[in-house]
Parts: sequence; C-alpha cells; structure tokens
Amino acid sequence: MSKKYYIHTFGCQMNKADSERIAGDYQSRGFKKAKSAAKADEIVINTCSVRQRAEDKAVGFLYNLKENLKNKQKPKIILTGCMIHHGEEKLLKMLPFVDEILPIDEVGFNQEAIRRDKHHAWIPISNGCNSFCTYCIVPFSRGREVSRPMRDILEEVENLVEKGYFEITLVGQNVNSYGLEKLGIGLRKILMDGNKIKLPTNQSQYKTFKAKPPFVKLLEKILEFKQIKKLRFLTSNPWDFSDQLINCIARNNRIDRFIYLPVQSGSNKILKKMNRGYTRKQYLALINKIRIKIPKAEIGTDIIVGFPGETEKDFQDTVKLARKVDFKVAFVAQYSPRPHTFASKHYPDNVPPKEKKRRWDILEKLINKKYLRARPKVIK
Ligand code: SAH
Ligand code: SF4
Ligand code: F3S
Repeated sequence: MSKKYYIHTFGCQMNKADSERIAGDYQSRGFKKAKSAAKADEIVINTCSVRQRAEDKAVGFLYNLKENLKNKQKPKIILTGCMIHHGEEKLLKMLPFVDEILPIDEVGFNQEAIRRDKHHAWIPISNGCNSFCTYCIVPFSRGREVSRPMRDILEEVENLVEKGYFEITLVGQNVNSYGLEKLGIGLRKILMDGNKIKLPTNQSQYKTFKAKPPFVKLLEKILEFKQIKKLRFLTSNPWDFSDQLINCIARNNRIDRFIYLPVQSGSNKILKKMNRGYTRKQYLALINKIRIKIPKAEIGTDIIVGFPGETEKDFQDTVKLARKVDFKVAFVAQYSPRPHTFASKHYPDNVPPKEKKRRWDILEKLINKKYLRARPKVIK
C-alpha cells in the first residue's frame, strides 16, 4: 500500500502555493493524499510567522495533533514555512514532536503543483521581499526577493492552458517589483547608524526606472494565451504601482478589476515610521489615477492598527482615508512585534491591547461590515 501524506497550511497565498508544490513532490515519490492527519504517514505543517497569533496557531495545531495521535503509530512530522527563521535548534526545543525541518527554498518554484482547483491556478512569480517595512518579518523569514525566470512562468502557463485552466493568479510578496532585483533596482537596505534610521524611500529607487517594468511584460505575455479568461495578482505595493501597470490593466479587461493595494496606515507619521515610502497624499493620488483609468476598479487593502506611537489622531487619519477610498475589503491587523524587525528593536509596543482591539473593531465595522452580505473572501 502506498504511503500517505497530509499537509496543513497556515498563512498567505505564498504558503498555499508552496503547499501545492510540496504535494506535487510527495505524489511524484508515490505518496497518496491522506483524508486526515490521523491517517497520514507524513504530516507537513506549513507555518506563518507574520504575527505572534499566527505562530500560536501552528503550535496549537501541533499540540492537538499530539493528543489525537496518542494511541497511534507516530507519523513523521515535518515543519516548513515562515517559522523556520527561528532556527532548527529552537524549533525542535519548542516543538519536541517535530521530526524534521524543511527549508522554504527547498520547495522549489518548478516542482509541479498538485492543484485542488481544475480551472484556477496559483503561480508563484517571486519569493522573499526586499522592502523591509519596519514591522514585517517576511524579509527575514523568506529572505531576499528572488524572481522566477519569465520563461519558466510562461512554460507553466502553457502547460496549464493545455490542461484546460483559464484563470490564473500570480503570487509574490510584491508582484510589481518582479524581475527588478535582477536589474539591481529596488533593493532597499536598512542602514543603521547607531540608533538613527537611514531608510532610502521606495519611490526614489523606482522612480528612476522608466522602461517597461518586467511585471508588465509578464502580464502581456500571459495575456497572449487567449484561453486565459481571468488574470489576477497578489500583492501589489503602492510605491511601484507604475503608470505602465495601470495602463496595462486598463487596456486588458481579462485582468481582474479587483486591485489589492495595502495602505497600512493613513497617517504620514506612521507611514514614515513603517518605512512604506509613500505619503497619504501619494496613496490617494494613486487610487484616483487608478479609478480614472480603470473605472470599474475595486480596491482591497491591508491596515495595521496600534503600530508603536499611533495616536488617536493618527488612527483617525486612517479612518478618514478608509472613508475616502471606500475599500471593498480590508485585512485589518493589530500590530504584533516580530523578531529581527526594525520596529521591534527600536519602537516600544506602546498601544495597549485593548486600544488595538478598539481600533480594529472600528475599521472592521467601517470597511468589512458595511455591505449587508457575507464578508467577501480575501485570500490571505
Ligand atoms: N507583501 C504584502 C503582505 C505582507 S504580510 C504587502 O506588503 O502588502 C500581510 C499583512 O500582514 C501586511 O500587509 C500587514 O498588514 C500585516 N502585518 C505584517 N507584519 C505585521 C505585524 N508585525 N503586525 C501586524 N500586522 C502585520
Ligand atoms: Fe512585508 Fe513590506 Fe515586504 Fe510586504 S512589502 S512583505 S509588508 S516587508
Ligand atoms: Fe505568513 Fe510567511 Fe505569508 S510570514 S503571511 S506565510 S510570507
């Protein structure tokens, strides 16, 4: 009888795409998918580290698993995903029933994915992030941005089209910057001069790039496959959402009109401390430009409440911005200090949990509960 595997995935679209590839690897080795964790010979837990709560969930899952497997033969338990940055030693100590740690980069872009959906495919186009927003662990958990060669992506699209797929979602931490690292653009560094921060802004680096961005080239190449009816991408960032990209979306109605553009805060002071590289005014100007050129555009966003030093006035700036933009949906998060990050080292986490929750409730109600219908599903 063939051995069975089970994968449990936490976290964002990148992890989901990785899990499909891990499944592909198992199946290529003759494993079959188990119906539940209890029936598997090998269990992979694909973790997220973006907030403490995300890590707690993975730890809780492992403890439950241990309970459920008490009287059974112990399967092999493998941990992968963004918690790996803690290092093998610490993880094995923290979670003694984990048998093996699988580094994320071993998942491999080109491992054939086993997809649940028969029409809609997720394709990773890059891994890692060079942006170093001061709160974010991703540049540490996934490392520097590495773009996948365009040729490989197009080959994957061709194979999918042959199998009858007609919807594609391209995934990366910052899809706009696809391919730019190869040109030496957009590589931001946090320069630490004692306790002083020297952060080059995003805009200053991307503004110098006038040619057609590789991401736009990629979209155009994918659209050459006439069988593709819907093309989406996640996540875009405001600082390099170029005019060429806006025009490309405007010209091609097979590109989804739902645009995910995380703002994080509506306060200039907080945006600066976050090292987001744009101001409130620049964000609003971008939204305006998008809405003029793409009249049917709908905007989704991510917002963090309770970032260190966020006063009521800063928060109200975010509320006002949310009203102005009229986001279709928002993923609102309460700030959680993460290891390695600039914010966790330099800014005390000084908004009390109760206040974070109050601010969270206000935005949640304002943005996500305004429609008298179920909250649209956000893929996160
Ligand atoms: N690359 C994407 C998303 C990264 S993580 C982007 O730049 O938009 C997804 C979301 O988690 C972020 O947009 C942010 O809103 C939230 N997040 C990241 N780090 C966080 C932290 N330390 N505390 C709370 N929320 C955080
Ligand atoms: Fe994190 Fe910023 Fe990179 Fe997004 S762009 S993954 S928030 S560092
Ligand atoms: Fe979480 Fe890693 Fe995604 S930290 S949000 S799974 S990139």
